[in-house]
Amino acid sequence: MKSGQAWRLGMKDMQILPAPRQRGHLKKPTWIIVLVSLVSMFLICAYVYPPQNSAACYVFSSNGCKGFQKWLPPAPARELTDDEIASRVVIRDILNTPRIVSRTPKIAFLFLTPGALPFERLWDKFFQGHEGRFSVYVHASKDKPVHFSRYFINREIRSDKVVWGKISMVDAERRLLANALQDPDNQHFVLLSDSCIPLREFDFVYNYLMYTNVSFVDCFEDPGPHGSGRYSDHMLPEVEKKDFRKGAQWFTMKRQHAIIIMADGLYYSKFRDYCKPGMEFGKNCYSDEHYLPTFFHMLDPAGIANWSVTHVDWSEGKWHPKSYRAQDITHELLKNITSITESVHVTSEEVKQTQTRPCLWNGNERPCYLFARKFLPEALENLLHLFPNYTSI
Ligand SMILES: *[C@@H]1O[C@H](CO)[C@@H](O)[C@H](O)[C@H]1NC(C)=O
Ligand SMILES: *[C@@H]1O[C@H](CO)[C@@H](O)[C@H](O)[C@H]1NC(C)=O
Ligand SMILES: *[C@@H]1O[C@H](CO)[C@@H](O)[C@H](O)[C@H]1NC(C)=O
Ligand SMILES: *[C@@H]1O[C@H](CO)[C@@H](O)[C@H](O)[C@H]1NC(C)=O
Repeated sequence: MKSGQAWRLGMKDMQILPAPRQRGHLKKPTWIIVLVSLVSMFLICAYVYPPQNSAACYVFSSNGCKGFQKWLPPAPARELTDDEIASRVVIRDILNTPRIVSRTPKIAFLFLTPGALPFERLWDKFFQGHEGRFSVYVHASKDKPVHFSRYFINREIRSDKVVWGKISMVDAERRLLANALQDPDNQHFVLLSDSCIPLREFDFVYNYLMYTNVSFVDCFEDPGPHGSGRYSDHMLPEVEKKDFRKGAQWFTMKRQHAIIIMADGLYYSKFRDYCKPGMEFGKNCYSDEHYLPTFFHMLDPAGIANWSVTHVDWSEGKWHPKSYRAQDITHELLKNITSITESVHVTSEEVKQTQTRPCLWNGNERPCYLFARKFLPEALENLLHLFPNYTSI
């Protein structure tokens, strides 16, 4: 940008002003030069310092900068770095490449778990009879699970330790995606935890995910301490505070989006290095809540739905969401969850703001949720008992 130069030029203009010869009275040409210089100084200042931060606006114009801004050329966009240009061209190209429609498209279910999957028998019921239209991948970061379902046997991928809130969580997500992408039939990818359950029958889930062109990645702007408050200037220039977003980790994603995550080293490294627990000034940042929402908000905002299809209940206002026990599992509870048609985001400011939006599926209002968490293992029997009922609501 040339603004630095312009500023120096302004200074120089001032230095070459002839000193007034007579005290109190300026000669006519000198007076004009002073006036012109002052006006150009002001214009340069207003240009160099964006008006929203500039006291000059309020000094010179009673109704702010709106009217004045019209005279100025548009503020120059930031010049992208080589890495950004390279990254954006690759991403753009992948997004614009028509999808190769496989003859037997499958949904890949990616389970991120420390060990055993307490709801494996429920998932087994969910998958039964739909062979060939799904695949299962398990990332077990602590213990090798013992399986109860044929759909889960030998589906573990090579995994690594996962520490809550650290980049190793995002690494595990990427590892699951990379493994699942090896099968070209996998067209949509669902990330699930060990405490997740299905809310619908298989066909409903399959059609919901396959016949839309968006990824269900949760994304919203939280100006509070648990949102933008976690942002660090070290992420500049690639990630600006205004683009910093937040969202639940549990996504579903179309193939193109999974591929651009594989292709991304630039934005990923910014979050790996500058969004982690125990940053400077005791700040905590969690990449699993910020990397993907911010990444998609910046690079393909219209390509994501901005809500997660995995329901969770934060209404108790505690540090962790509500965990459902065996006694909580009723037809009514599940009916309540499956009939929700609006997504709600709550900011973390002192006065919390609630943002409510209808869940639009291909432009039509639809139930928001396909899956739910967090369920305690003790809930299994009740869920198995109710499963044929609640999924057909
Ligand atoms: C998704 O498809 C609809 C038409 O079905 C189209 O209007 C919309 O632009 C598409 N969105 C994306 C992100 O491709
Ligand atoms: C998601 O939010 C972005 C703004 O961040 C918006 O541009 C986009 O249209 C939204 N997506 C949908 C499907 O409405
Ligand atoms: C279901 O929703 C109704 C209406 O909002 C509410 O009164 C009821 O307590 C809910 N039941 C459960 C089990 O969550
Ligand atoms: C299933 O739903 C039907 C009709 O809503 C009800 O009569 C039946 O008791 C339910 N079964 C169970 C196991 O809750």
